[in-house]
Amino acid sequence: MEERARLKADQERVEAALRECFRGREPRGDIYDAMEYSLLAGGKRIRPVLTLEVCRMCGGDERQALPFACAVEMVHTYSLIHDDLPCMDDDDLRRGKPTNHKIYGEATAVLAGDGLLTAAFETALEAETGLPAQRTVEAAACLARAAGARGMVGGQVLDMAAEGRAVSRYDVEQLQALKTGALLSAAAEMGCIVAGGTQEERNAVRRYAQKLGMAFQIRDDMLDVEGDEATLGKPVGSDQANEKTTFVSLLGIDECRALVEKLTEEAVAALAPFGAERSAFLRWLAEDLAGREN
Ligand code: IPE
Ligand code: IPE
Ligand code: MG
Ligand code: MG
Ligand code: MG
Repeated sequence: MEERARLKADQERVEAALRECFRGREPRGDIYDAMEYSLLAGGKRIRPVLTLEVCRMCGGDERQALPFACAVEMVHTYSLIHDDLPCMDDDDLRRGKPTNHKIYGEATAVLAGDGLLTAAFETALEAETGLPAQRTVEAAACLARAAGARGMVGGQVLDMAAEGRAVSRYDVEQLQALKTGALLSAAAEMGCIVAGGTQEERNAVRRYAQKLGMAFQIRDDMLDVEGDEATLGKPVGSDQANEKTTFVSLLGIDECRALVEKLTEEAVAALAPFGAERSAFLRWLAEDLAGREN
């Protein structure tokens, strides 16, 4: 299958699984509505696609990876709901729709994020796919580590603390590796864990995802300056309004473009142990994301 068609098929698989996650849950009421409002608003689903594709590349059964793919997308969506709150980036548009707190109010938006974070681990741990318990525990622990204070949350703390201050390139690299790289890396590593990959494979996958994650966030910072709001589905100019130091404010757009290219090449190089044929899709994905417009 051609790569773009394969990406679309993966995305549709994830959409269908996410739609099932809270079906029939009681009590309905506002909280599941608020959780699903953001979860089913049509993100790119890059993290769950990574989980499925790495699992395949490492010789695993992607059906066993699907609950972990849903889990990482829930954690990511929760991080976006909280990231948009007035006490953080204070943004009004996400995934082409008003942000969660604009519709449901701040208290429900905070709780919808909490609900998604918790549901992620329910989804991962309650799945009945025949995955050995040891792998289930290892993958869930990988996600927990990446989501928390040593990962995404820690990165968001640094991001907020850096607002309005002069920050070095080293600091921005650390901050972005945590706020964005950690979760992307866990998404990929979980695929390897589910497949029962070797430590060497897991290291290669982590290296790929870390490089991809850095390129992804730099591209995000570029789009915040030169992107189109309708295509992006979120505001442009948010970083400047919040006085964030980003790679763009440090290096300028042209140097950022070159850096994204370099990091993408490094991500692709990290896939060498898998050979050209097995890693073809992930190579294409890294290159495609480097030039993304949303
Ligand atoms: C946005 O992530 C936040 C970053 C970490 C850059 P995505 O660009 O993956 O957002 P969605 O999931 O497609 O909405
Ligand atoms: C947020 O980075 C990364 C998260 C952990 C949510 P940004 O604040 O740049 O993400 P966007 O641009 O709002 O999607
Ligand atoms: Mg932010
Ligand atoms: Mg933001
Ligand atoms: Mg951004």
